[in-house]
Parts: sequence; C-alpha cells; structure tokens
Amino acid sequence: MGSVEQLQCLLFPALISLFLALHVSATSNISLPGCPDKCGNMPIPYPFGIGTSCFRDGFEITCNQSTNPPRVVLWSEQENNIELTKINITSGEAYANNKGISYKCYNGRSFEGHLANFTLKYHRAFLFSNKQNKFIVIGCSAFAYFSAVRVSSELRDYWSGCLSYCLSLNDTTGNGGRCNCSGCCTSTIAAGLDEYHVMWGFEVDFPLEFNPCSYAVLMDENWYKFSIQDLRGLNFYERNYKIGVPVVIDWAIGDANATCRNGVEKSPNPACRSNHI
Ligand SMILES: *[C@@H]1O[C@H](CO)[C@@H](O)[C@H](O)[C@H]1NC(C)=O
Ligand SMILES: *[C@@H]1O[C@H](CO)[C@@H](O)[C@H](O)[C@H]1NC(C)=O
Ligand SMILES: *[C@@H]1O[C@H](CO)[C@@H](O)[C@H](O)[C@H]1NC(C)=O
Ligand SMILES: *[C@@H]1O[C@H](CO)[C@@H](O)[C@H](O)[C@H]1NC(C)=O
Ligand SMILES: *[C@@H]1O[C@H](CO)[C@@H](O)[C@H](O)[C@H]1NC(C)=O
Ligand SMILES: *[C@@H]1O[C@H](CO)[C@@H](O)[C@H](O)[C@H]1NC(C)=O
Ligand SMILES: *[C@@H]1O[C@H](CO)[C@@H](O)[C@H](O)[C@H]1NC(C)=O
Repeated sequence: MGSVEQLQCLLFPALISLFLALHVSATSNISLPGCPDKCGNMPIPYPFGIGTSCFRDGFEITCNQSTNPPRVVLWSEQENNIELTKINITSGEAYANNKGISYKCYNGRSFEGHLANFTLKYHRAFLFSNKQNKFIVIGCSAFAYFSAVRVSSELRDYWSGCLSYCLSLNDTTGNGGRCNCSGCCTSTIAAGLDEYHVMWGFEVDFPLEFNPCSYAVLMDENWYKFSIQDLRGLNFYERNYKIGVPVVIDWAIGDANATCRNGVEKSPNPACRSNHI
C-alpha cells in the first residue's frame, strides 16, 4: 500500500512540472487540439508542434526542460538542432540563436581565429531571411566575406562581404551608431540561402593594439547595436558565444498547391505564409 502512495508522491510533482512546461491547449487554437501550445512561456503555434501528430512535417519542436526556462529546439533527424526564441506566424518568421560567430585575434605574435558556421540545410522548410539579417563584420582592420549556394539554383555561387576600418576607437561610428564601415559594416544577403561559409579577406593583417579581435556573423540587423566595447579584447565573442546571436529564419512549404489553395487545412494556412514563395 505504502508503495503506491510513494509512487504517487514521486509522480505528482513530475506531472505538475510537465503540465506547467507543456501547457496543453484548451482555450486557444494556436496548436492542434490536444497538443501542447507552449514550451515554458513561449507559445508554439501550428505548423510548429510538440509531440506525435502535433506538427507539420519539418516543424517538430522539442521542449528541452533540463534548463529553466526550457529551451525550444527545432528538431532534425541529423541532430543539427536549432534553438528558437520566438515564432511569428503572421510574418512567417522565427528567431533562432546563431552560435556560429567567427573571430580572428592578434595574440601579440600572430593571428588566430575560428571560422564558425550555421546551417539550415537539415531543416528543409527554412531559409535565412534576407530582409532582417545582415552579414555583420566588427573590427577596425576587418575584412570578411562569405560564400553560399542559393537553394533554388544550385549552380550559382553567391559571394558577399564587407570591410571595416578605423584608425582609433574614436574614429568609429560610436556607441549605438549605424554600421558605416568604421567599427562595423554590414552586407546584405541574397534570398534563398540556407547555409554560408565565412572567410577572412586579408592573408596578412596589420595588428592593431586598440582592437585585437575582429568578428563576422549573420544576424538580425535590428538586434545588433554597435558598442566601442566590442572592439576591445574578445568582448563581443565572450558576451555572445554561449547563447548565440539572433538570426531570423523564414519558412516556405513546397506543396503550396495542395494545402494552401484547396483549403485542405484551415485557411489561411499559416504554413503557406512566407517571404519567399
Ligand atoms: C477556437 O476554435 C473554435 C471552433 O473553430 C471557435 O469556436 C473558438 O472561438 C476558437 N477559440 C479561440 C480562442 O480562438
Ligand atoms: C537538453 O539539453 C541538455 C543540456 O544542453 C542536453 O544535455 C540534452 O541532451 C538535451 N536533451 C534533449 C532531449 O535534447
Ligand atoms: C509578427 O509579424 C507581423 C508582420 O510583420 C508584425 O506586424 C507583428 O508585430 C509581429 N509580431 C510580433 C509579436 O513580433
Ligand atoms: C561547422 O562547424 C562545426 C563546429 O565547429 C564543424 O565541426 C563543422 O565541420 C563545420 N562545418 C562546415 C561545413 O564547415
Ligand atoms: C578619444 O577622444 C577622447 C575624448 O574626446 C580623447 O580624450 C582621447 O585622447 C581620444 N583618443 C584618441 C586615441 O584619439
Ligand atoms: C562613420 O561615422 C562616424 C561618426 O559619425 C564618422 O566619424 C566616420 O567618419 C564615419 N565613417 C564613414 C566611413 O563614413
Ligand atoms: C502549382 O500549380 C501550378 C499551376 O498548375 C504549377 O505550375 C506548379 O508547378 C505547382 N507547384 C507545385 C509545387 O506543385
């Protein structure tokens, strides 16, 4: 008898925390009936979903509750998991954490660095938003570029990049300033990209005492606010590498005719809304 009660005591808190973390939809219609509509505090609207039959193919979310708050992870079979921080059904966009921050630092003798990457190619429904994201390069003798292949035309390489240059910390755009190639620069990306590879432009750089490190990363242009502090030490990387910087991804559905036009699913089908179809 005692063992049954003990079992309940063990189960009950577990059930409560499961219920709190996975709020099952009852009153709102953002998820399919009987499916969790939240992971922690974050709403998970359909076509995204948690659990069997709760998501559209390619939109499976796992709610990782080993952290507080729980983490919303866009699942892929290849284990190339992407953490999401916001989903906007109206705009067809989600915010992902990009931990792929490339850097290059002068250590007093030579340059050392890290070329990072971030790919969506294991998440076929998603592409980088070319409206919200910019390839941003930070530094005072920084020249970085990236290459990418457009999903729609596999044969055509795409290249972009920029150069940022300044003579001193005073000779920059200043805290909160627009990236104007003095301290940071931005380059637009083409539509239809799901992957990019970063390269540094100079074979041999000239070391700057006041700015040892340069960075390059694709991110939400509105999120990044230039700070002179970003030019000191390894500050920008150390501040951001654990969580990552926000990058906006948007989604397209291949079978637009079947589900979006014939009204098989509820209309307007949120999965049909996209910036690139
Ligand atoms: C959910 O859907 C039902 C049936 O379509 C509708 O009656 C109800 O008002 C909806 N609830 C919300 C919160 O949108
Ligand atoms: C949840 O996150 C923890 C910590 O990052 C990780 O070790 C674990 O594998 C994750 N669990 C799942 C199911 O992804
Ligand atoms: C979602 O996107 C729409 C359209 O771009 C915008 O008007 C709205 O403010 C966004 N919602 C949130 C919560 O960001
Ligand atoms: C991307 O970065 C990871 C981690 O640094 C590395 O293991 C992987 O080989 C890189 N992939 C490409 C295509 O560069
Ligand atoms: C930068 O500006 C400050 C304040 O105007 C000044 O005191 C400092 O000497 C300047 N530094 C350089 C390297 O020009
Ligand atoms: C960028 O802005 C700063 C501050 O306004 C200015 O001093 C600098 O010359 C500008 N750089 C370029 C390349 O226009
Ligand atoms: C959708 O229908 C149009 C017109 O019938 C056709 O040209 C197009 O290839 C179809 N698209 C898909 C993804 O099936």
